[in-house]
Amino acid sequence: MDNNGNQILKKLYVRKMQLIRNLFPFFTQQNNSVYLDSAATSLKPNTVIQAIRSYYEKYSINSHSEGSNLLAQKVRQTISQTRQLIAEKINADPEEIIFLPSTTYSLNILALSLKDYLAKGDKVFLTHLEHSSNCYIWQDIAQKKEAKVDFLPLSEEFIIDINKLENYIDKKTKIVSFVHMSNSLGVINPVKEISEKIKEINPDCLVIIDACQSIAHLPINVKEWNIDALVFSGHKVYGPTGIGVLWIKKEVAKKLPNLLWGGGKKFGPNNSLAEKNEYLPLSRKFEVGTLPLAQIFGLKAAFEFLNNLDIKEISDYEKKLKNYALDKLKELEKIIIYNQRLETVDIVLFNLKDCHAHDVADYLGKNNICVRAGNFCCPYLKELVGMEAAIRISFFIYNTKEEIDKLVEILKKIIQEPKLLVLSL
Ligand code: ALA
Repeated sequence: MDNNGNQILKKLYVRKMQLIRNLFPFFTQQNNSVYLDSAATSLKPNTVIQAIRSYYEKYSINSHSEGSNLLAQKVRQTISQTRQLIAEKINADPEEIIFLPSTTYSLNILALSLKDYLAKGDKVFLTHLEHSSNCYIWQDIAQKKEAKVDFLPLSEEFIIDINKLENYIDKKTKIVSFVHMSNSLGVINPVKEISEKIKEINPDCLVIIDACQSIAHLPINVKEWNIDALVFSGHKVYGPTGIGVLWIKKEVAKKLPNLLWGGGKKFGPNNSLAEKNEYLPLSRKFEVGTLPLAQIFGLKAAFEFLNNLDIKEISDYEKKLKNYALDKLKELEKIIIYNQRLETVDIVLFNLKDCHAHDVADYLGKNNICVRAGNFCCPYLKELVGMEAAIRISFFIYNTKEEIDKLVEILKKIIQEPKLLVLSL
């Protein structure tokens, strides 16, 4: 292409990016900030913020308000439309969509509900890629039931090694819970193939997926994957904080005990379900009290936003940004990149030799560049990369190459003058 053609493409790119960024009020409020931390939480589009406002401004009423009150009807309708939208996105049944405060809560409630599914000598498998929310609760209940938690082997690509599963999974394996996309290395487990293999060895083993990191970037299909439960948080998929989703297969959910109690449920003898509860929607087993209504309005808008995007186009764009970042970072003298050769979408994990990750992140923060440093709540990060702490940058549809250039510029300054880190403390 001649120079003129390149100029036109560049102008089109800048214009398209500006239109996308205009959808996110953060950029008008913080026009000096470079936001490279969407793996921690995504920015929110205007439609999501407006939907939350509209609940408080126009409706405000509790969905439990009885009768044919039009406002309550609208609120109830929004709740079921939100379940429907999410169910369509992950190929589930809407009644299997359960609103809980977050991924962490969902995993805790799920694990506590499954406690009696474990007996002495049973096994639960996790991986070293897990967030602490998918480790500690399993370790806790396993300990109480005298069951064992162990870790599945990872391949050279840092994903579950399917070829070795036969040496690990057996009839005593009751639960395997693992991440779809890791929040530290960014690698992606091929869930369908892994689940198929597990179920082939032990059809009674439950497969649980943490999709918190992938929901905004990759397609999810719970039926095709043949899994039993899946969790994610609203705030990592353009939605509000304070709401997450637990999807659980109907047949599995029906067998779980009533762990949580509140209005609308009826208590029977010996903590059993009173007959009336059998007719309650499945979600009421886990959703007790007033629902997070404003968050549900926001989550609906978030999924409408997501549905208007082509997920493949988004992940291709994010990969382009990631590759651009890798090319630029590779040129730096003191850089150590941990996931350069791995199959990922939106995450780059690195350190600068002789500089602590937190000091670098602090200095970047002082220069209005938001990144995350540490172990990202991954207790086994050291097993993966040999370091307790690293710097993570992550991309979303609204990021640009220019933002990566700004990051690299500051990193170059640090490399040239490491004293800056000390002086800035
Ligand atoms: N789990 C979030 C992260 O990866 C907060 O940063």
